[in-house]
Amino acid sequence: MTLLITGGTGTVGRPTVEAARAAGLAPSILSRRPGADHRVADLRTGTGLPAALEGVTNVVHLATNRRSDARATSRLVAAARAAGVEHLVYLSIVGVDAVPLGYYRSKLECEGIVAQSGVPFTVLRATQFHEFVGSLFAAQRRLPRVLTLDVSFQPIDTGAVAARLVSLVGGPPAGGRVDDLGGPAVLPMPELAEQWLVARGLSAADARRRVVEWRAPGRLAAAYRAGLHTTGLPGPGIPFAEWAAAAAR
Ligand SMILES: NC(=O)c1ccc[n+]([C@@H]2O[C@H](COP(=O)([O-])OP(=O)(O)OC[C@H]3O[C@@H](n4cnc5c(N)ncnc54)[C@H](OP(=O)(O)O)[C@@H]3O)[C@@H](O)[C@H]2O)c1
Repeated sequence: MTLLITGGTGTVGRPTVEAARAAGLAPSILSRRPGADHRVADLRTGTGLPAALEGVTNVVHLATNRRSDARATSRLVAAARAAGVEHLVYLSIVGVDAVPLGYYRSKLECEGIVAQSGVPFTVLRATQFHEFVGSLFAAQRRLPRVLTLDVSFQPIDTGAVAARLVSLVGGPPAGGRVDDLGGPAVLPMPELAEQWLVARGLSAADARRRVVEWRAPGRLAAAYRAGLHTTGLPGPGIPFAEWAAAAAR
């Protein structure tokens, strides 16, 4: 297998490259910047794409700029089809067909582009990464209070997502979605904020006093409250509190 990982320099991309290496593969990374094992290409413009796909048999597609992913994915699958790629795995997000967010609509569009591409494919949807949930609290670290919403998340360790991606890309194309992947627990956002603060040295009582819960109005909050972005089943990987403790060190 000659494996190419788009977005291999990103949050889930780095552990995916590591997991592929640990599995004895020698992945290349599609990136806009030069580096070790990089194949330089830009999915936004298409520059360098045919050369980046040369000789590639398997692709894990993780690249995103959160604005023009549909066009980037179209360019990638066209190049993959021309190069004769045998299996492309696309990472999407749980609930992209149910949660009314612009980014989710574009992820759903990308799923469709991959499915219509003619390249044998598998789509994996995952829940929010621990890093994403942690970033919601980190953005407020200089404020006297941490504002949270009355919604829950099922955050997942990127190492667990990476392991699943590498196992999928080494197997046969599903020709559709495989089971959604979520973290070990669905937890209310205020509780996650408290865990994040405790990991940064606050006592449990101080953390509880610091966190404010706000009942968010609107369709988006209602979709989150209904848990449309979660799998409903406990999944693999370290829990958020453990990740937060490691990230704080
Ligand atoms: N964040 C979450 O909680 C979450 C949950 C489930 C699924 N996902 C999905 O997981 C995937 C990866 O997310 P992430 O958070 O790991 O992303 P990230 O950290 O923001 O990394 C984005 C990656 O995309 C690459 N990239 C951006 N624009 C590019 C372009 N024009 N051409 C080529 N490469 C480009 C970047 O590579 P260079 O800078 O090296 O070019 C970088 O490696 C996304 O599809 C996302 O929707 C995310």
